[in-house]
Amino acid sequence: MSEFLANKPEGYRVAVVGATGAVGETMLEILEEREFPVAEIVPLASSRSAGSKITFHERDVVVQDLETFNPEGIDIALFSAGGSTSLQHAPRFAEAGCYVIDNSSAWRMHDDVALVVPEVNPQALAMAHENRIIANPNCSTIQMVVALKPLHDVAPIERVVVSTYQAVSGAGRKAMDELAHQTRYLLCGETCDAEVFPARIAFNVIPQIDVFMDDGYTKEERKMMDETRKIMGADLAVTATTVRVPVFYGHSESVNVSFAAPMTAARAREVLAEAPGVCVVDDPASEDYPLASEAAGTDPVWVGRIRDDDTCINSLHLWIVADNVRKGAALNAVQIAELLL
Ligand code: A2P
Repeated sequence: MSEFLANKPEGYRVAVVGATGAVGETMLEILEEREFPVAEIVPLASSRSAGSKITFHERDVVVQDLETFNPEGIDIALFSAGGSTSLQHAPRFAEAGCYVIDNSSAWRMHDDVALVVPEVNPQALAMAHENRIIANPNCSTIQMVVALKPLHDVAPIERVVVSTYQAVSGAGRKAMDELAHQTRYLLCGETCDAEVFPARIAFNVIPQIDVFMDDGYTKEERKMMDETRKIMGADLAVTATTVRVPVFYGHSESVNVSFAAPMTAARAREVLAEAPGVCVVDDPASEDYPLASEAAGTDPVWVGRIRDDDTCINSLHLWIVADNVRKGAALNAVQIAELLL
């Protein structure tokens, strides 16, 4: 792949758009943790939080207003401030010569925009030479394709049936506050209204993430199905049910996979043990399997409960768990930025 960013020994000017949000904050942390070569960090948000401060490498940095910010001279911008903000501002950053890595769904399905998971399809990044906007897939899609791609390389996958158990952090800071408040109120015997979610999330399970489409699927389900095909191949059949559960961090997925060639649970375990970004935890004898509570705060995609589906030839069940804010969003974005270097 030809070079994206010229070598800058002094480091790069990196903007984080949505720096005060749940994902933006984690982007800043991961840039620090992975010692990304940052010459200058530029935190951006709405006028509501312009003037507040974030800490980067133990220094306070003032948050600026995205609306009035001039992107000239920025090398890389990590966007996580919602779809409409990305639609409005990502082109202006790209036109100024900056590479935009966008965590929203605004650009993901554009034909000329790369949708990248570094362990899975780094070659797709080549497209970014043209338009400089790169899309980060949906959190549930990322963790699923990291686990499925190494299996697909050994035996082509024909069909995937996935049900998700998604944490509230995927819906941002207000959503996390809503789960915390509702839990407290209900434990005190008081009532509370749902504001962020379509129904009460505390002590509940909601089979709706995002809005419904005409075909009865939700937009989140449609994203998972379309994005998986864009990343792994258009002839893959994927169907999804996406569900919100009262968990703060960590998405879990029950995935049933059918292969067009021989595949067994034993072989899948061997393949996944060697796969980049994957950790297998799968020991029924000691009741060991991936848990959202243990995946939270970690980088890998955790896979367990790997077993043959005896009702269907060459089919498996997998349980796939990852920290949705890290691998599902901020970490994947920073890994894409690393590929640009
Ligand atoms: P702000 O703090 O100014 O509202 P979360 O997903 O956790 O709710 O975070 C959303 C992030 O996106 C926040 O940093 C928020 O900034 C930012 N944001 C939301 N709307 C805009 C906008 N119109 N322009 C710039 N940043 C925005």
